[in-house]
Amino acid sequence: MSKQNFFKTLNLTPKCATLLTNKKYIKIYQLNNNLLESLSDLVFSIIKKSINDPKNAAHYDLLKSTTTLEEFTLKTYNIAQFFVYRDYDIFIKIEDILKDIYYDLNIIDSNIIKGMEFTANLKNVQSDIPEAYANNPYLTDKVHSDIWAGEPASIINVFLYLAGDIQNNFLEILYPKKEENLKFSPQNQLDDYLEATEMLDLFSILDYTKQKGVLIFFDSLLPHRTRRDATQKQTRLSMDLRLLVQDPYENIYNHWLRPYIPSGKYWAFNTQKQLTYTSKLENELKILDPICKQKRLEYCHLANPYTNNLTKGN
Ligand SMILES: [Fe+2]
Repeated sequence: MSKQNFFKTLNLTPKCATLLTNKKYIKIYQLNNNLLESLSDLVFSIIKKSINDPKNAAHYDLLKSTTTLEEFTLKTYNIAQFFVYRDYDIFIKIEDILKDIYYDLNIIDSNIIKGMEFTANLKNVQSDIPEAYANNPYLTDKVHSDIWAGEPASIINVFLYLAGDIQNNFLEILYPKKEENLKFSPQNQLDDYLEATEMLDLFSILDYTKQKGVLIFFDSLLPHRTRRDATQKQTRLSMDLRLLVQDPYENIYNHWLRPYIPSGKYWAFNTQKQLTYTSKLENELKILDPICKQKRLEYCHLANPYTNNLTKGN
């Protein structure tokens, strides 16, 4: 299944959202308010747990009385590092709401999604680049494709604005001026996020609506970057995750061979609601069992003892 089929199949008049931008390699929707609220409530419960996490003890007094996501984004603009507490069961509930949306968008019925990143990635992006992050080779403020950082070529980027200063702190997406220019989008040849300025003439900055509830699906070949305004004293809260149009167990990706495997990696897409993290894990291990018998055990990321300890021990 190709990424092009993914974009061809997307429902352009879903019930869950309104289509804002319709281009061959990118579709942008405005999510309905009730769905946005359900997702925001779950995200807020993760934020509350994170505020109470000892890892964020230094910020507890500042954040303890926070009652909304907007308030959180106002208070955290100069917090360099805020740890998101991985309450897997809440992330499962988020995933289940996203699945309802994907059903409505027709990409589940058409059997197009084969894998899905879990957990979704919550990002609280400051108006300044945090000092500790400035020299990171994968600084997302540089034009990049996630494929450069070792993600599989068959990913679809998914991005949802949730709260905060979205107007000044946003995802800039580049679109090819001519379709053939897309082939100049660097794919696997770069291993860090270079400025790639020689490529920029071939692309235009995509003009799109930036506000909460805006849900974006784009081909991972579209170059993009984080844009911020350091004069603003607020953060932007968003969620991103990646979908796979290929079976995540079809190929062995290098990042599965690392001794420490983060939970935020690709899982086989399960069309059923999952209810709890334990049932999700059991389902995945069932899928992996015959595969692991055929291939070397360490190739299967969830069968990796490091990952099992990590996930079961939270
Ligand atoms: Fe990216």
